[in-house]
Amino acid sequence: MISKTIQQMLNEQINREMYSANLYLSICSYFTDMELDGFANFFKVQSDEELFHAKKMFDYVHNAGGKVTVMSVAQPITAFDSVVQAFEVTQAHEQNVTQTIHAIVKQAIAENDFTTHTFLQWFITEQLEEEALVNNLLKKLKMIGDNSSALYLLNTELAQRTFSPPSAAKQG
Ligand code: FEO
Repeated sequence: MISKTIQQMLNEQINREMYSANLYLSICSYFTDMELDGFANFFKVQSDEELFHAKKMFDYVHNAGGKVTVMSVAQPITAFDSVVQAFEVTQAHEQNVTQTIHAIVKQAIAENDFTTHTFLQWFITEQLEEEALVNNLLKKLKMIGDNSSALYLLNTELAQRTFSPPSAAKQG
């Protein structure tokens, strides 16, 4: 059974994942409005993934003998200056999420909570992948600059992204 401290931290993390889902839906709206359907698709899939993360943690808290308290989700940013800025917001947010997950892992280690420690390994890997993906796209966008042909090429590439729940999730 998880401690009250771990339960609270996971509850806050669930809220953070739900905030992430709304933030990415907000960015999706920005790109939809710009008629950049591939970028919009990328962030819609990203939003789906974040809801999946929240529910994966939700299930874990209950399976580990705790209880989830669903909290209100803060209003995300709704206006963006540029394509690059939308990705910079994403990059900064994911870096913050990585830090908060690491903080829960540190607490789990301090409590000898091996179960939570093991559960969170999936999220550590996921954060590594998410940060690498966003860093890569941001680099590409900075290279693209104001070359609209290259931007539309990347838009076409991002239109291919689909959401499929990771198989590792079934273990959680
Ligand atoms: Fe679930 Fe992108 O953090």
